[in-house]
Amino acid sequence: MTQRLLAPLLASALFLLADPAFAERPAAPLTDTSSLPMLGAAWRDANPYRDDAAIAAVGRTLYNETCSKCHGPEMNAKGHPAPPLRRLQRYCRKVQDAALKARCLADVDHYFVTTVLKGKYILGVEHMPAWDGILKQEAVWAIKTYVDSRSR
Ligand code: HEC
Repeated sequence: MTQRLLAPLLASALFLLADPAFAERPAAPLTDTSSLPMLGAAWRDANPYRDDAAIAAVGRTLYNETCSKCHGPEMNAKGHPAPPLRRLQRYCRKVQDAALKARCLADVDHYFVTTVLKGKYILGVEHMPAWDGILKQEAVWAIKTYVDSRSR
């Protein structure tokens, strides 16, 4: 009798845990982003801050605050559960043609932003939380600028 009552209860509790809508949302970072040039509401297709060292420095703090728990501090993923982000654009580095290289980097930018905003949910299980509504556009591109500066 008790089992018959408990089983559906347990099943729905597990379902709620696996549902992104009920997963615990990460906190917004405390890093001061006021020095980042404002980008407006519409998301850019490619990183507007590319190769800006001062912005990469802000991105580094943001990264260490929000991403390092899983991707590793200072982008060193060794011993951490998530993949190393410094390898994300390794293919673009080999492209010689400037226009093609810009397209390649923009593709990686698009993948990066989409992944960060939507998170990674596989069969309803959260592998990475969604940052939509938590990280502003300026913060996401600053993190990408840092990631680019450490890529190899
Ligand atoms: C709770 C752990 C966790 C946090 C925090 C986290 N991630 Fe992830 N992230 C993962 C995992 C796990 C994967 C791999 C998911 C998969 O492919 O199954 C991943 C994948 C990614 C990918 C795709 C990598 C690839 O090689 O395809 C990007 C990009 C990424 N994360 C960026 C970020 C950024 C930027 C932050 C900080 C804003 C962040 N993540 C915070 C766990 C996390």
